[in-house]
Amino acid sequence: MSAKDESFGSSYLPSFDETNDLKITKPDVLRFALIIIFVCGMIFSDITEIPTVPKFYVDNASLTQFNYTKTNHSLSYNLALNITITNPKKYIGLEYSDIQVTAYYGRTRFAFVTLVNETASFHQNSNTTVSFENVAVQGQKLVLFAESVFNKYSLGTAAGVYSVDLLIAFKETFVSGNAICNLKLPLGFNGTATPGFEATKCWRRRYY
Ligand SMILES: *[C@@H]1O[C@H](CO)[C@@H](O)[C@H](O)[C@H]1NC(C)=O
Ligand SMILES: *[C@@H]1O[C@H](CO)[C@@H](O)[C@H](O)[C@H]1NC(C)=O
Ligand SMILES: *[C@@H]1O[C@H](CO)[C@@H](O)[C@H](O)[C@H]1NC(C)=O
Ligand SMILES: *[C@@H]1O[C@H](CO)[C@@H](O)[C@H](O)[C@H]1NC(C)=O
Ligand SMILES: *[C@@H]1O[C@H](CO)[C@@H](O)[C@H](O)[C@H]1NC(C)=O
Ligand SMILES: *[C@@H]1O[C@H](CO)[C@@H](O)[C@H](O)[C@H]1NC(C)=O
Ligand SMILES: *[C@@H]1O[C@H](CO)[C@@H](O)[C@H](O)[C@H]1NC(C)=O
Repeated sequence: MSAKDESFGSSYLPSFDETNDLKITKPDVLRFALIIIFVCGMIFSDITEIPTVPKFYVDNASLTQFNYTKTNHSLSYNLALNITITNPKKYIGLEYSDIQVTAYYGRTRFAFVTLVNETASFHQNSNTTVSFENVAVQGQKLVLFAESVFNKYSLGTAAGVYSVDLLIAFKETFVSGNAICNLKLPLGFNGTATPGFEATKCWRRRYY
């Protein structure tokens, strides 16, 4: 009963100075707390979403040689790639110790290129995109293709469109993984590039 009286008393007899003080200070503290919570939330979401970065794209590519010789099972290839890597994080930079690109044709691995080394690690600032331009995938490889895949080659050196898959594997301080880029490469005649390649977004295969 006494508590009820007290609450009645306080609500019907407010001290104007006190309520004014409360009205001014209380929302300010609240606002401050909300800002802190908001900022912490932003950084926290940035951190918790780390396993979704980085994002890989193949902006451009030119295939100027893709030649399989049946008699000695030798594949000659010459592929130039423009690869971009995006770090969409607002606050967090990425520190790569390793980025490797493996090229497959019909599940057969034929080439391997290193973009970033442990000896030459690479820092990417937040909210930036870096490009690796004219990455050369070039050489000759002894490979045995399954009959169906081999037949695609037997169409010869006439211009065609070849499906080449890239597996991009990377190591970063907090996240590692690999992404796959399914490229459709028009073969250039005569050692010259053909336009017609469409920029390809790579998809996350396994990030951890
Ligand atoms: C890669 O990008 C550079 C600069 O934009 C360009 O000169 C080059 O032709 C591109 N390479 C390929 C294979 O498209
Ligand atoms: C493919 O190989 C054949 C035989 O070696 C050669 O004549 C031809 O020029 C090659 N084509 C390309 C695009 O390299
Ligand atoms: C396979 O044969 C082709 C055409 O004769 C030749 O250009 C190429 O050098 C050979 N590759 C190997 C590994 O002997
Ligand atoms: C990220 O970069 C873009 C383009 O450079 C810029 O417009 C944007 O304000 C940046 N965002 C942050 C959070 O820095
Ligand atoms: C990889 O490391 C070797 C030394 O181990 C170095 O000579 C080479 O330049 C590095 N390559 C890249 C792409 O950083
Ligand atoms: C191949 O290239 C040479 C020199 O660039 C040119 O003279 C020839 O016409 C080209 N052939 C074809 C089929 O494009
Ligand atoms: C891709 O590279 C080829 C050859 O270098 C060029 O002709 C073409 O314009 C480039 N495409 C884009 C979208 O940059």
